[in-house]
Amino acid sequence: MNTTTTATTFASRAVERVVRGQAASDGDGVKLTRVLTQPLQKRLDPFLMLDAFGSDSASDYVGGFPDHPHRGFETVTIMLEGRMRHRDSVGNVGLLEPGSVQWMTAGRGIVHSEMPEQQEGRMAGFQLWVNLAAADKMTAPAYRDIASSSVPEYTDAAGVRVRVIAGASGDVAGAVARPKTEPVVLDLTIPPGAAFDAELPAGHNAFAYVFAATAVAVGGGDAATAIEPERMAILANDGGDGVRFAVAADAAAPARVLVVAGRPLGEPIAQYGPFVMNTSAELQRAFHDFQSGALAS
Ligand code: CO
Repeated sequence: MNTTTTATTFASRAVERVVRGQAASDGDGVKLTRVLTQPLQKRLDPFLMLDAFGSDSASDYVGGFPDHPHRGFETVTIMLEGRMRHRDSVGNVGLLEPGSVQWMTAGRGIVHSEMPEQQEGRMAGFQLWVNLAAADKMTAPAYRDIASSSVPEYTDAAGVRVRVIAGASGDVAGAVARPKTEPVVLDLTIPPGAAFDAELPAGHNAFAYVFAATAVAVGGGDAATAIEPERMAILANDGGDGVRFAVAADAAAPARVLVVAGRPLGEPIAQYGPFVMNTSAELQRAFHDFQSGALAS
């Protein structure tokens, strides 16, 4: 890696704001950290939610997420550790394992459950919600399980491991490509002393979540901001080529960063729990359809 050359040719976005998640509970008592909360939906359009979960204690996760509906957006589950069984109203059954990703398009409606397949040990991962454009909210539901071995990844000359979940990184196309929102989702492992420049489309809203024990400098040169573990950096929409991450040479362990970027839809966002539509009338319809059994039929 030639840091000097990279630093002068790669223009990084700056950190606009650092967000600490809120402790929350969802499903049947699963403890999690809600990193991207409802007040940030407009700023981070098309992303609606990011939950981080991670616990060694079964009581924090064993209740799982029993049957519940969704309409109007996509859910992306990224498993880091542990196993969860997915079942849904379309008839899909899948097992989420360490490193695997599930990309579910709820569209007009799906009812699903995500239940732990373990009674002990560590469970950790993320769930990200990606909005659908108004024209696609009532599309047919779809579901993809992506095994860990099917997530494209590479390790660069500096030893940075890049797992390309969605979008692209360099010449490597990700496991998932979506129209309209064109999401980029990267899982980075950056060793001590290394830096990585993640290219991002200029118009995308973007954030980075640091999730292992090591802090990361985010942004270019003198404008870099140290982001501590379990913090989200909202990246400024100040053009540039993307965002630079750097880890101190004396760090005790590699850093992990989830990088998420997407093209904003610029449409009204109306949310009621697991339904995300454009208007309150559409939300009432979703709730009515769920109550009458029509949502996932
Ligand atoms: Co769900």
